[in-house]
Amino acid sequence: MQTHEGTNLGGFDPTDPAVIEDPYPFYARYRAIAPVQEGVSPDPRFDRAWFVFGFAAANELLRDRTLKSDPRPFLADGVEDNDPPRLSITDPPDHTRQRQVLTDLFRKSAVQGYRAQIRQMAERLFGELREVERPDLVRGYAFKIPIGTIAALLGLPDSDHASMRDWSEDMMKAFDLGGDLETFQASERAIEKFNEYFRLRVAERLRATDLVEHSLLDRLVAASRSGQISGDEVLAMARFLVIAGFETTMNLIGTGYYELARRPDQLAVVAEDPDGTLAGTVQELLRHISPVQRLMARFSDRDVTISDVTIPAGDPIYIMVGAANRDPAEYQNPDEIHVRRDASRHLAFGFGRHICVGALLARIEAEEALRVLIRCRDLFELDDGEGVLWRRMALTRGLETLPIHWKDAL
Ligand code: HEM
Repeated sequence: MQTHEGTNLGGFDPTDPAVIEDPYPFYARYRAIAPVQEGVSPDPRFDRAWFVFGFAAANELLRDRTLKSDPRPFLADGVEDNDPPRLSITDPPDHTRQRQVLTDLFRKSAVQGYRAQIRQMAERLFGELREVERPDLVRGYAFKIPIGTIAALLGLPDSDHASMRDWSEDMMKAFDLGGDLETFQASERAIEKFNEYFRLRVAERLRATDLVEHSLLDRLVAASRSGQISGDEVLAMARFLVIAGFETTMNLIGTGYYELARRPDQLAVVAEDPDGTLAGTVQELLRHISPVQRLMARFSDRDVTISDVTIPAGDPIYIMVGAANRDPAEYQNPDEIHVRRDASRHLAFGFGRHICVGALLARIEAEEALRVLIRCRDLFELDDGEGVLWRRMALTRGLETLPIHWKDAL
């Protein structure tokens, strides 16, 4: 383990419980030493890893088209690879071919068309919260919007949304680290159920003669009929879309509202002019919260020198989005939230070849979800203190629960 003279810091370890509890003071201390450093690999298949804390270094690496995301060629001989295939760990030419299908589906004009539907869902869910005496804004609202959105876009019936939520949550935990055997087994079961569910749905749609133009699943099926992607890839993509867009967007909505509500001056700015400020507010919240704290590992076939540090070929490189987005060299007073700040260059969705396909959809979901909460903010208050819990995840960051109470019930 590397130690730093004059400090008590060892090599950065993203799975250290103290880091998971609150990573930001750690990011600040490491970033102050150097923007790129060696540390403890969160992936047990590698002996060591490199962490990028600085915004400029992160940006430069993400522009490097020679970096790879598929770890398999870099595993030592005999090390097994059990990772389910997914777009974020695929390299060209497969990545380019598969991603093209999704960029067509998620193009701006199509995604903007979902806004009204998302707004209606947010209104309905808030109405349902009103029926509950002491609701939880995460479970009862932030949790339901992303799953409801992607399930509706995929054309899945309402009655299947609850299972989709449970399986996604169990599977999400497997992408993270530090889970016990029980978590791991629950996630394996969820993957099986998910696969089984989508296998049936995809087979059904492959046989169908009435493919629906606005159903994402049907459009994936159409892409497989035209030979653009395989049947297995349809399955992997459908599953990945649910997982990739679920916890991330839930964190943005639930944690985003929490952070805003704790800064009444900023909340007041948005409340006064939601149409003029919501889009920028969501970008600033993305920067401040970084629902995904670090990107998938990147690898290089040759040594890479960045910020005067040489990373040996084949070592995993982790871009710490949470740290880069709070780099004082890029953002003034980075720990503060300023809803009128231009934060649109943040790295919360990554950058370059693997930049988030669902970025615009997620932003629209958050804008509409926050619009309803901000409009209705006088009806409720956040419960103080211990009810507010953070999820114990190393890859993502967000609230587990956010209890509220109704003011008119007092
Ligand atoms: C606030 C919400 C979200 C955040 C913060 C987020 C973040 C990210 C990040 C950081 C990446 C890049 C990973 C890397 O480079 O290693 C990514 C990729 C991806 N995201 Fe999102 N995401 C969000 C919502 C969504 C939604 C709603 C969808 C779709 C329904 C989605 C689908 C994807 C897909 C398919 C990829 C893989 C792209 C590729 O590898 O080419 N995401 N996301």
